[in-house]
Amino acid sequence: MQIPADARWSTPTWIREVAIPGLREDAVWREFATDAQDQLGTEARSIVSYAFTEMLNNALDHSQGSRVSVSAWLGRVESRFEIRDDGRGALSHIRDVFGLDDLYDALAELTKGKTTTDPERHTGEGIFFTSKAVDIFTLESEGIAWTVDNVRQDQAVGLSDVAVGTRIRWELDPSTTRALIDVFKEYTDDDHVFSTTRTTVRLFGFGVRFVSRSEAKRLLRGLEQFSRVRVDFTGVEEVGQGFVDEVFRVWPAQNDGIVMEPVGMEGPVEFMVRRGLPPSRRSGAQET
Ligand SMILES: Nc1ncnc2c1ncn2[C@@H]1O[C@H](COP(=O)(O)OP(=O)(O)OP(=O)(O)O)[C@@H](O)[C@H]1O
Ligand SMILES: [Mg+2]
Repeated sequence: MQIPADARWSTPTWIREVAIPGLREDAVWREFATDAQDQLGTEARSIVSYAFTEMLNNALDHSQGSRVSVSAWLGRVESRFEIRDDGRGALSHIRDVFGLDDLYDALAELTKGKTTTDPERHTGEGIFFTSKAVDIFTLESEGIAWTVDNVRQDQAVGLSDVAVGTRIRWELDPSTTRALIDVFKEYTDDDHVFSTTRTTVRLFGFGVRFVSRSEAKRLLRGLEQFSRVRVDFTGVEEVGQGFVDEVFRVWPAQNDGIVMEPVGMEGPVEFMVRRGLPPSRRSGAQET
């Protein structure tokens, strides 16, 4: 999927292009808020304030670039934002620091949350929560585009024309009723700790069949940092016994107390997953 050069993303209503060294994300946010935040409803304002400052902070703290641009397109029924830097690119940065094989592995890690290359100063939450709080989120780096569509509940990986740096775009209904706090609640426990993740099986291989233990291991990497893992099978047509055994029996046995919750299963996938679950969890396994 090539992202088309889209006329909707030309001529922003608000733009700042600034040098990165010494920049503070809250200063840029205050300028935006003064000029334009009255064009957003109450809930949209808190989501945009979070997404804007988190994505700009990423450009400042991680990109090692020299310039960043922040653009907004504000309309009555639609708001769109873009934050773009000219730095080292999020996916190759993660690939190199974690010693991963390729950019797709890096993307897979990023989607799980708690993936940070700077654990002393960061927690790896910004992209995870931003991608779930807005209507449509896209991260582009080194020719790859990852889109999370929260309206249609879908994700996609495709091609991008962004070769240098990282470009983040998001769209949000200015009168959305989605509350940022509810997005956090879905993935945090009573002590506000980021304890639940949702991992999308389709992002861990090519195609719609997942059969091997090595695909499962890719999916499971780093998940011991959570206490509950929703394993989302949406779009997956077939899973093999090795994959299911690794995800629902072997790994949980090695990581005591972590709950694996299959969601989005259909037909043969549901059959295989239920077969692979411990007997006590076979019926009513699927949640949403
Ligand atoms: N603009 C960017 N340029 C280069 N690398 C980036 C960029 N944005 C994100 N990354 C990489 O992606 C990782 C995850 O980003 P994310 O915002 O989710 O977490 P974080 O910034 O590490 O922690 P937190 O957001 O909780 O402070 C970062 O640690 C960094 O390695
Ligand atoms: Mg961040």
